[in-house]
Amino acid sequence: MGSVSLKIGDGTARFKRATLCSSAVNLLMLFSVLTTNLFALYAFNYAPKNHSNNNPSLTNSHELISEQVSLIMREIDSSQKKLAQMEKDLLGYDTIDLSKPNIASEIKIFLQHHPLPLGKDSKSGITEMVASVGHTCQKSMDMLSQYMTYKVSGPCPDDWSLAQKLILRGCEPLPRRRCFAKVSPNAGLSPFPNSLWKAVNNKSVSWSGLGCKNFECLKGKKLSRDCVGCFDLSNVLENQRFVKARGKNDFLIDDVLALGSDGIRIGFDIGGGSGSFAARMAERNVTVVTATLNVDAPFNEFIAARGLFPLFMSLDHRFPFYDNVFDLVHVSNALDVAGRPEKLEFLMFDIDRILRVGGLLWLDNFYCASDDKKKVLTRLIERFGYKKLKWVVGEKVDAAGSGKSEVYLSAVLQKPVRS
Ligand SMILES: *[C@@H]1O[C@H](CO)[C@@H](O)[C@H](O)[C@H]1NC(C)=O
Ligand SMILES: *[C@@H]1O[C@H](CO)[C@@H](O)[C@H](O)[C@H]1NC(C)=O
Repeated sequence: MGSVSLKIGDGTARFKRATLCSSAVNLLMLFSVLTTNLFALYAFNYAPKNHSNNNPSLTNSHELISEQVSLIMREIDSSQKKLAQMEKDLLGYDTIDLSKPNIASEIKIFLQHHPLPLGKDSKSGITEMVASVGHTCQKSMDMLSQYMTYKVSGPCPDDWSLAQKLILRGCEPLPRRRCFAKVSPNAGLSPFPNSLWKAVNNKSVSWSGLGCKNFECLKGKKLSRDCVGCFDLSNVLENQRFVKARGKNDFLIDDVLALGSDGIRIGFDIGGGSGSFAARMAERNVTVVTATLNVDAPFNEFIAARGLFPLFMSLDHRFPFYDNVFDLVHVSNALDVAGRPEKLEFLMFDIDRILRVGGLLWLDNFYCASDDKKKVLTRLIERFGYKKLKWVVGEKVDAAGSGKSEVYLSAVLQKPVRS
């Protein structure tokens, strides 16, 4: 009598975790256990005393006891909930519920806060190091757990496509892992600048999880609006882009570079296909970072094999660059204007943020699904007050077969000084 077992739900797991956690949680736990036990002791002592004094029937006494027990159970239950909430608050991950069953232990270890050894850092004001992970990962906990299930210090599972699936579901950034990523032999990398236009060896990229198993297979494939056979560097469609115009919507790199005040030295290409824009820029001594995922093809490895800088990141992620750093941002069709207008606004503001004053925003054959969409985009651009150095609206008949004519906007815009 008087002792209450706290084996409720996954309480055992929670206690185990609490020992890893801060001592504050331990104290809270101890306090809770003590108070709950004291309460139980009081309740059970109270009942028999009542019994001997008033001599009620046995049923009454039983009722009284079971009432007390259910009161205790409710009390325990509510302290458990309070504790779980306190623990969550302490961990700071409100949306990721680590107390759920079947969560890979590596997730818990990765998300553990690390108090700074010397206490509060006077410069930053922080007291602990917190691991960074996309809050939407919570929606894909099963997949994330699968991703975080591996042998520590062993080889990682061959699961880059699982990682990309998570990123496409908004689980970005992904947690770090403690395993060795699968290696590609990187056979036959060419020295720069020959690497820019030399065919990349089939063996230097990983084909696992992809429909195609070599570059031959990717030839002529339309992977996106910006990548129609873009892995075939010997094809004029790819190797004459940006240097030879096929229509009035195509601007030439040299013409655009001539528009840049104070020179164009570094740029960012959003949705840059296989990196040919960056390659042409590299030939002009301009360093361009190409943002791309590996949807249906090994874009990142291919770009890297060309000696260019790939950035594996979705467009929903805030650009990992500081304000006002780029001389040029090149955007092709990757932006989906079909989404909510606010989504496009967030993106446009982020592009504006990383572009320096006087820097150029090159909208390259930007596809507008309808004339209305074009108007929305035009109004948005005008709100930013950019100077229109070039502005061409063109119509093209959809080459992919529908025969429908499509509206394209190409523009070179200069970021203004704002006071
Ligand atoms: C890649 O593999 C295909 C099919 O085996 C072959 O035709 C092609 O020449 C290879 N290309 C390179 C660059 O290795
Ligand atoms: C690029 O830089 C190199 C080395 O400074 C120089 O020799 C070359 O002329 C430059 N190319 C262009 C297109 O400016």
